[in-house]
Amino acid sequence: MKALLAAGGRSTRMRPITHTINKQLIPLANRPMLEYPIRKLVEAGITDILININPGERDVMRAVFGDGERYGATLTYIEQEGGARGIAHAVANAEPHLRGGPFVFFLGDNIMVGSIRKLRERYEMEGFDCLIGLSRVKDPNRYGVAEFNPDGTLKRAVEKPTDPPSPFAITGIYFFNDKFFDGFKTMQPSARGEYEITDMITWYIENGRVGHEEITGWWKDTGTPDALLEGNALMLDEMRVEEMVNRGTIAEGSVIQGKVRIEEGTIIDENVLIRGPVVIGSGCRISDAYVGPYTSIGDGVELHNTEIEHSIVMERATIQSGKRIVDSIIGRHASITSNQETLPRGHKLIIGDHASVEL
Ligand code: G1P
Repeated sequence: MKALLAAGGRSTRMRPITHTINKQLIPLANRPMLEYPIRKLVEAGITDILININPGERDVMRAVFGDGERYGATLTYIEQEGGARGIAHAVANAEPHLRGGPFVFFLGDNIMVGSIRKLRERYEMEGFDCLIGLSRVKDPNRYGVAEFNPDGTLKRAVEKPTDPPSPFAITGIYFFNDKFFDGFKTMQPSARGEYEITDMITWYIENGRVGHEEITGWWKDTGTPDALLEGNALMLDEMRVEEMVNRGTIAEGSVIQGKVRIEEGTIIDENVLIRGPVVIGSGCRISDAYVGPYTSIGDGVELHNTEIEHSIVMERATIQSGKRIVDSIIGRHASITSNQETLPRGHKLIIGDHASVEL
């Protein structure tokens, strides 16, 4: 079985970070987000992986993920043609690669804890044309939602309904056979101008056999900053104790508690308390600081006279704020310094387009 991973899109809800970085490259526990779905696929025995990418992003994606060897997979990058016209269109774009057999379509921003092995087995053994993964959520109106008949079979799939017919979000993990491409030819774009994957699922319900399986473990679409931080926290929780090695230098008197990973060349100076789960990249310098649970700090970060918790700090950012920072996403090379240092006093901000700051 092949896989198609969706790694395109502009991800406007994640601006300004996504002005300069593809969303699927945003780090969770210091690993680019797309690495997690790649590993889930390989774990389920699916190693022939196509990746749908934005036009012009082949080099940057290949530089990060390579040809897949390090994951035990073969990665083939397919640039989206014809513009961003919805996720079903991204699947149609890959038709030449996917014709002739079943495949799993996986949205690159879907992060989960459990295995997709059971979904694969049910799809293959029960001879479905399509199988969808469902997750019970509190806010189904943010997702595609499954509607059921009184006998519990699927009736249809609706995209972001104002009045959700069930609490079951349709997760971004779909098993399809190649009838998809026949169905796609009958599709029309929705009111928002996109070819909706939910319309394809409804087409399968009306023209074939569709199974569903509840994903009971943790599942998240990391489409918003809050969800991204939750994904980061979860991936830190998931790290095994053996991965939590310390390769840095730690000054006497500074304290490391719990699961903490520190890469080479990082110097933890005096008066630092790090309370895991936390990962810290290479070449960082940290002094007079508290780094609290669920924080990921990228390579080359400077952190002084600051408390930070439940946050993502990307590479080469500098924070010297004298403040406590929580629930924050700090982009690459960003600088946060104390306003006591230069006159006139006051908050001095140079903030990129679409940034969000709570002072
Ligand atoms: C997409 C799909 C939606 C699905 C969701 C899962 O929405 O359109 O049906 O439930 O992914 O992550 P998006 O997150 O692109 O708004």
